[in-house]
Amino acid sequence: MSSKSVLFVCLGNICRSPTGEGVMQHLVDQADLADQIKVDSAGTIGYHAGHPADQRMQAAAEKRGFELRSRSRKIVERDLQKFDLVIAMDRENLSDILTIDPQPTASVKLLSSYLGEDWPSDVPDPYYGGEEGFEYVLDMIQAACPHILEELVPG
Ligand code: 4NP
Repeated sequence: MSSKSVLFVCLGNICRSPTGEGVMQHLVDQADLADQIKVDSAGTIGYHAGHPADQRMQAAAEKRGFELRSRSRKIVERDLQKFDLVIAMDRENLSDILTIDPQPTASVKLLSSYLGEDWPSDVPDPYYGGEEGFEYVLDMIQAACPHILEELVPG
């Protein structure tokens, strides 16, 4: 049985990418694919290394039925060889990832590349804003994740 892996990446790995990981893991579990699809997240900075997801992000996710279990870690070069798919939350994350390895074997894409034109290019960083920012992160990630899953499991 072939197995696939996806890594969600943002800046701090305490808000957006833990949400990507939690929403995707939920879909993978629902589809009974946990033994075939590995889901993880990382940040481009190590400032919050070891920390759980931001309490505001966890609370917003829990209201929608998603548990965020990640501990923050900084992305390493090997991630860009090890994972099949790497999903950047914004264009700065994408650029930082490609600075670590300009020719990764992983397919590196923006989350918004799975969404239509009505959505912005970047998942806005909610860290310094209000509650609505955390809701918007969930809206965008919930819209994209089913399409990401389709790509990982064709047919
Ligand atoms: P994230 O949000 O990239 O979605 O995890 C941030 C969290 C913390 C910081 C920046 C963004 N920070 O600078 O501490």
